[in-house]
Amino acid sequence: MTAQLPYPPLDPTDKNGFSYETVLKRWPIIITGVIDELHQQCHNLSLELQKGAGPRDILEAKIKEALAIVNEISKLKYEMARDRPLNPVPEDGEPYSDLYNKELESLAGEAKNTWFTAPWLYAECYLYRLLRSYLAQTQHWKDFDPFLAQKIRTFKHSYNSILQLATSMHELEADKEILVSDDKLEVFFRQMIQMSLWGNATDLSLLTHLSVTDIERLQAVGKEAQAARHEFILKDDQDAVWNHFKSLKKARVDIILDNSGFELFTDLVFADFLVTYTPHVDKVIFHPKMFPWFVSDVTPPDFAQSFELLLDPAFFDSVSEDQSNNRQHLIAMVNRWKGYVESGVFVLSVALESRFGEDTHDIADFWTSPYPYWNMESLAPELFGRLKTSDLVIFKGDLNYRKLTGDLKWPAWTPFAEALRGLAGSFPILSLRTNKADVVVGVDRAVAEELDAKSGNKWRVDGSYALISFLGRTTDT
Ligand code: F6P
Ligand code: MG
Repeated sequence: MTAQLPYPPLDPTDKNGFSYETVLKRWPIIITGVIDELHQQCHNLSLELQKGAGPRDILEAKIKEALAIVNEISKLKYEMARDRPLNPVPEDGEPYSDLYNKELESLAGEAKNTWFTAPWLYAECYLYRLLRSYLAQTQHWKDFDPFLAQKIRTFKHSYNSILQLATSMHELEADKEILVSDDKLEVFFRQMIQMSLWGNATDLSLLTHLSVTDIERLQAVGKEAQAARHEFILKDDQDAVWNHFKSLKKARVDIILDNSGFELFTDLVFADFLVTYTPHVDKVIFHPKMFPWFVSDVTPPDFAQSFELLLDPAFFDSVSEDQSNNRQHLIAMVNRWKGYVESGVFVLSVALESRFGEDTHDIADFWTSPYPYWNMESLAPELFGRLKTSDLVIFKGDLNYRKLTGDLKWPAWTPFAEALRGLAGSFPILSLRTNKADVVVGVDRAVAEELDAKSGNKWRVDGSYALISFLGRTTDT
């Protein structure tokens, strides 16, 4: 895996890197969260048993399976802390266990197959694939999402920003006439890009303990908040994206989704803006992950459920009287989105009712592989072929960025196109990423060196800086 790469992959052997801290502290917290969630489920099932609220044998079998999973995960946590080798992913009948294991064998050949030596990108993807295999092999927990409760809790707390954005979209209706001028459209287009960009700040695998105030601060969506954050965008290709965008007519945009909840909401708002208020786009395809991934990433059930939650009057229980207008704006907007889903203007790349771990024959499985995206053409030719016909592919978030650049130790001033390697030019790529991992490219050398000298790797990992990276198509379709 690491042979013939221009730079080595980031890994936890560098104790100053974020991956070291991740293996040492962040993953144990995430894993413990899964154990707690399963205990909570067992507790609820025991109460049902006591009340006689269901077939006894099934309830008992469920508890037994959950405790067996807890046992596996506890073992995993123990082995991780002691830097033991990663074990093969069990053959669980779901995509890519063989690929993960082939990679693991080659890492063993390089003596990089333990938790504190394996490339970070591989090991982190492996961790979520392994957790999936524990659930996939059961009878009763195949459809269980151990992160769902957490995703929903944070989504609930995002209501202030959600209502504010719904009203901004409602106000756009009044500006519809002026939007026919390119100048005005450009202003809104840029605001939308930045909203979707900063929507990436609330991912739950980084922010393991998030208060409501933290959430509101991260989600500040007004114009002033955007302006204040502008200086934190270290690479800003908005001019180039706009030039590309304004040449499009009735185009198709693909969004490679990242997190569920507030970030997905901002992506839907962005997509809504593109199809409702511009003549340039008439279809948006959303690409989810096929099983719970990096805690908060969007799965097909998350996508489908988001519309229902946003429309449910009981969901945002803290909405005040004077926010009732905003609420109406939200309802109108989400109903429009539902209409778009029904009419095929908004499309999920896989069936809406897909179940976790289903084989999508190349269409979505690649997103949960451990591979950099420059392998897409050879490993997922069907997906690659589809994206080649897209007019703009938007990659959301940090992990997508790590995979676009292979999570290598590129110098921060490496051109984005160079870091994409074989993927460069295949289709127009826009990456919107808040910095939550060490890899950074496309930044001015003097700026990067100054930030490194000032704060070490903090600017690369703490989510306060961001990158808007664009590269157009350079090959024939
Ligand atoms: O833990 C690794 C990591 O990729 C971090 O870089 C980041 O915090 C998180 O997981 C995923 O972030 P995102 O949801 O933006 O892809
Ligand atoms: Mg994510």
